[in-house]
Amino acid sequence: MKDRLNKIKASAEAELSSAADLGALESLRVKYLGKKGELTAVMKGMGGLSKEERPIIGQLANTVRGFIESALEEKKKALTEKAKELKLMAETIDVALPGRTPEMGAKHPLNTVLDDLQDIFIGMGFSIVEGPEVELDYYNFEALNLPPDHPARDTQDTFYINDNVLLRTQTSPVQVRVMEKQKPPIRIISPGRVYRSDTVDATHSPVFHQVEGLVIDKGITMADLKGTLEVFAKKLYGDDTRLRFRPHHFPFTEPSAEVDISCFNCKGEGCSICKGEGWIEILGCGMVHPKVLRNCGIDPEVYSGFAFGMGLERVTMFRYGIKDLRLFYENDLQFLKQFKI
Ligand code: DAH
Repeated sequence: MKDRLNKIKASAEAELSSAADLGALESLRVKYLGKKGELTAVMKGMGGLSKEERPIIGQLANTVRGFIESALEEKKKALTEKAKELKLMAETIDVALPGRTPEMGAKHPLNTVLDDLQDIFIGMGFSIVEGPEVELDYYNFEALNLPPDHPARDTQDTFYINDNVLLRTQTSPVQVRVMEKQKPPIRIISPGRVYRSDTVDATHSPVFHQVEGLVIDKGITMADLKGTLEVFAKKLYGDDTRLRFRPHHFPFTEPSAEVDISCFNCKGEGCSICKGEGWIEILGCGMVHPKVLRNCGIDPEVYSGFAFGMGLERVTMFRYGIKDLRLFYENDLQFLKQFKI
């Protein structure tokens, strides 16, 4: 029995020292100290020993048990420590790893063109002013020579807050607001949002943008209007751009004209962008009507001036060959990413 106990001790010692993890250690505890374990079996067999042998073997069995228990404890500590170290090693952060760069946005094409346009006019001595989007009927229509029953109001139906207050249909009311406040010389452009009760399609939107221009001084003629617009169109669409003035009618200018530019895509030959015309209409303009000047307290016998107004969406669509205005408002990244500079 003594031999058996010594063997158990030796094999437990050997097996314990090579136990690789806490799971293996637990199996060894069961193998030696468990209810059906080897040491327990020896203890159970002690009943058959002589009186003299029993205390000796009993003591030895206890010593072996104590030895195995403390060896188990020690190994457990060592393995726990090792497991912790391994875990820490696995969790090490590689500070040299490149970070995730947040994707940069792009300027909206309408803003890009507006910025270019503003730069061009600032370069010619214009300043930029803004006006309210919620406007009085007086400024949006009446002061611009569009009295309540004027037929031209039909083409500019809008959203009314009440009989006198509406969402402006054009940026032209800013002309009146500026002339009321400021004495000539005046040289301004005024970009902003305008509203019309239009149904959405490829070329219409109930909300869109215009850029208004106004110049008032002594001796301003149509030649100044033509020269200014020519510089503008050449800078925005290229030096070989030609302009064409077509007679038109606006209640607040006399004479009035619509301006076409030669198609930047086909240079006037006719293509799908200009619908075979060779020309693209980009704005309305004219010499400020004497009645409008008078409405604003400016004497038409002393001063004269010109005005123009263009749709920013339209100007931008032609600049980039965009065929559907809805793309500007849909926030589709596939579309917007193309304008990343
Ligand atoms: N306000 C006009 C429109 O929305 C555009 C316009 C035409 C503005 C002629 C002007 C102008 O200043 O002189 O259709």
